[in-house]
Amino acid sequence: MKKLLIIFISAVILFLVVQVIPVHKNESPIPADKSFATQFNVPNNVNRILERSCYDCHSNQTKYPWYGNIQPIALLLENHISEGKMKLNFDKFQDYGKRRMRTKYTEIVKQIEQDKMPLTSYLWLHPEAQLSEAEKKLLIQYFQIQ
Ligand code: HEC
Repeated sequence: MKKLLIIFISAVILFLVVQVIPVHKNESPIPADKSFATQFNVPNNVNRILERSCYDCHSNQTKYPWYGNIQPIALLLENHISEGKMKLNFDKFQDYGKRRMRTKYTEIVKQIEQDKMPLTSYLWLHPEAQLSEAEKKLLIQYFQIQ
């Protein structure tokens, strides 16, 4: 019993100590007129899906859940977001060269066709981000003709 208590207290202390790790949030939205949607004339129905299901990790603006301020969860989120943004950032899309844009469009179609995005671990906590068959079709059609 005493051992359990020591483990519990250590866990609580550890939890409190990791809270000093600073939380870096991905919250620097770009002006609306510079957004991917405006610059590329993205139809509303496509844009709504991207905002709902992709922008948390592929833009400069994440909508954080309440536990996003708690360590070590904040670190996990930060890792996913920086990795996702490094590969594809819709807020930086206009800075990509023509060839890179083309590659990204092809990648997007591939990831959606193979059900790889949004990440499964993300969908557990954000079931609303799940793409329906109709939404997948719409995104694939849109990105195929770009
Ligand atoms: C929880 C965060 C998260 C969400 C939400 C998310 N992604 Fe990703 N995405 C990542 C991460 C992390 C990677 C890089 C690692 C990998 O490929 O698995 C990635 C990689 C990609 C790539 C590969 C880019 C390349 O050039 O290699 C594409 C394309 C992509 N995502 C598209 C999407 C689309 C489209 C959506 C929405 C339908 C989406 N993602 C939603 C995190 C996310």
